[in-house]
Amino acid sequence: MLPENDLWILSFYRASEITGALFFGRLARSLKPNDIQRDLTKHFCDEACHAWYWTECIERLNAKPLKLPNAYQDKYLEAAGIPVNMMEVLAVTQVFEQRVISQYSIHRQVPGLQPEIKETIERIMRDERWHIEWVGAALAKMEKKYGTDLVESTLHRFRQADRQVYKKTVDEHGQRIQDLMKLRRR
Ligand SMILES: [Fe+2]
Ligand SMILES: [Fe+2]
Repeated sequence: MLPENDLWILSFYRASEITGALFFGRLARSLKPNDIQRDLTKHFCDEACHAWYWTECIERLNAKPLKLPNAYQDKYLEAAGIPVNMMEVLAVTQVFEQRVISQYSIHRQVPGLQPEIKETIERIMRDERWHIEWVGAALAKMEKKYGTDLVESTLHRFRQADRQVYKKTVDEHGQRIQDLMKLRRR
């Protein structure tokens, strides 16, 4: 049986992947077809699959996903402000994706992790690596238009918001994610 805290965190990941899929899907729908829209299409497809993998994983562990209020990303936008152009969207995405991959890689190291969870994390991490890659490349191209300094300072602003939201989440849910906290590096 899946311990309650584990069910909570898997449901948290699932809700966050659903929110990501919707965010990138809406964004793709609003853009004209170009390289960014192409990659965003694969991106929202991946995030939707991740939500499904967590759903499947929770079922394989004989549980049902929990309904959780407020996705993590909403708190992000509250802390960092709504991105005002494509460069800012990519910057916040880059920072967020780095957080996701670091969270999954910490979780993968939890001693005695159920094989279903480990497999799911590893499957998802392959896609998340590509997310960081394509967004990083698209951001680098934008430096011509926006200037390296502005791109850097935007990333810096979102990183500060990211640390703040992550810390707040850990403080709020410390009991639930005890095992992960023991492994937390930053
Ligand atoms: Fe994902
Ligand atoms: Fe992602």
